[in-house]
Amino acid sequence: MLTESRKVFFYGEVGAGKTTLIKEICKQLALPDEITSPSYPIINQYTWSIDGEHRSLNHIDLYRLNDIEEALSLGIEDLLADDSYCFIEWPALIEPIIGDNLLKIKILHNEDSSRKILFL
Ligand SMILES: Nc1ncnc2c1ncn2[C@@H]1O[C@H](COP(=O)(O)OP(=O)(O)OP(=O)(O)O)[C@@H](O)[C@H]1O
Ligand SMILES: [Mg+2]
Repeated sequence: MLTESRKVFFYGEVGAGKTTLIKEICKQLALPDEITSPSYPIINQYTWSIDGEHRSLNHIDLYRLNDIEEALSLGIEDLLADDSYCFIEWPALIEPIIGDNLLKIKILHNEDSSRKILFL
């Protein structure tokens, strides 16, 4: 799924499982660190190498931001334009500045503890 775009927006309510899903995807990408939620730092950046290939990943949570200006001041536009993996929770704020080459995933929390994942 990450061959089309490395930029992914994750939608879903509080506790839907966005960070948990991102954690699993990071394992698949051979990121050696156990990722933590970026809700306080807003952006967590990781770099690592696998089979000689250098990879970088930005895990971003925009929940605490109030307007798009704050997001722009963090340099989000540049992160969306380079070749890093960018996984963004609570992305609605920056919808006005996104291009086409982007994957959107929505997680729905079912009444039991299972989840439904929609590709938007
Ligand atoms: N697929 C799943 N099945 C069962 N439990 C899950 C699943 N995904 C997440 N959880 C549990 O739900 C809780 C919230 O998950 P998580 O922190 O990933 O949500 P989130 O969508 O990132 O929330 P937030 O909007 O606050 O960042 C955690 O306790 C996690 O273990
Ligand atoms: Mg989260």
